[in-house]
Amino acid sequence: KKPVVTVIGSLNMDLVTQTNSFPVKGETVIGDHFMTVPGGKGANQAVAAARLGANVNLIGRVGDDPFGEILLRNLTENSVFKANVEPVTDCATGVATIILHDRDNRIIVTPGANNYVTKEYIVQHENVILTSDIVLLQMEIPLPTIEFVLQLCEASAVPVILNPAPAHQLSEEAWQRATYLTPNETEKELLFGKEPSEYLREKLIVTEGKHGVSFFESGSFDRVDGWSVTPVDTTGAGDTFNGAMAVALAEGKSKAEAITFANAAAAMSIQKLGAQGGMPTRQALEEFIQVGD
Ligand code: RIB
Ligand code: NA
Repeated sequence: KKPVVTVIGSLNMDLVTQTNSFPVKGETVIGDHFMTVPGGKGANQAVAAARLGANVNLIGRVGDDPFGEILLRNLTENSVFKANVEPVTDCATGVATIILHDRDNRIIVTPGANNYVTKEYIVQHENVILTSDIVLLQMEIPLPTIEFVLQLCEASAVPVILNPAPAHQLSEEAWQRATYLTPNETEKELLFGKEPSEYLREKLIVTEGKHGVSFFESGSFDRVDGWSVTPVDTTGAGDTFNGAMAVALAEGKSKAEAITFANAAAAMSIQKLGAQGGMPTRQALEEFIQVGD
């Protein structure tokens, strides 16, 4: 039976400009290439999980504009169940203005309709959450909503992966309600410091780009090495990792097995442009892992 993964989070249209020079104040520079591609951490994680074969619900919001329509169509094309993505009237769809630069990507996220993923909205969609094998959360929706979902899932013993990106501080109590916390290195330092509490340590799975993933298990530190691939676009690598983690854990894989699976999925994703470009299907991922071994 296919596992049921529910993602609660953002949908954005990514406006991506590739350039080798950033403008300084008052300056205009010429970019190399521009594209609009579906993104948003919530939608990205949902698409990643669906391509890997899970039944995926996305709970989120778009605006009533053309970007919203395109994002909804993209969910259908990727077999993500979209009945819980309701358009907000007179509101802009979330957008991410992304500058892709050789060394240093920069992103501005304007949430728009994502701000309407409120507690009340969650209550309306509670049933979907409570009948899931696992729930995936990020931090591009209002923080009170995230805290509320953590409480709801803890009370009903539904496991939750909280990807604390972009980084926002929550109380120790709130962090503790998550089953897994998946920051990157920067987010980990910022939110949990050098010495996370013993309790949080066991929940932490820290993605470290080309260096792989580190995690604590039964009191000791462990690591899964990164893959050496040539990156084309690292946008969405973390999202691919989280979507794949959710599928693997929901299928009953161990934590270490799930990390290995997700780490390979993320390595594949960065070899194509766009957050969702390069996210592998189940078959492609299994072949990649086999050949790589
Ligand atoms: O994690 C990548 C995503 O972050 C992009 O798709 C962009 O929309 C931003 O939200
Ligand atoms: Na990609």
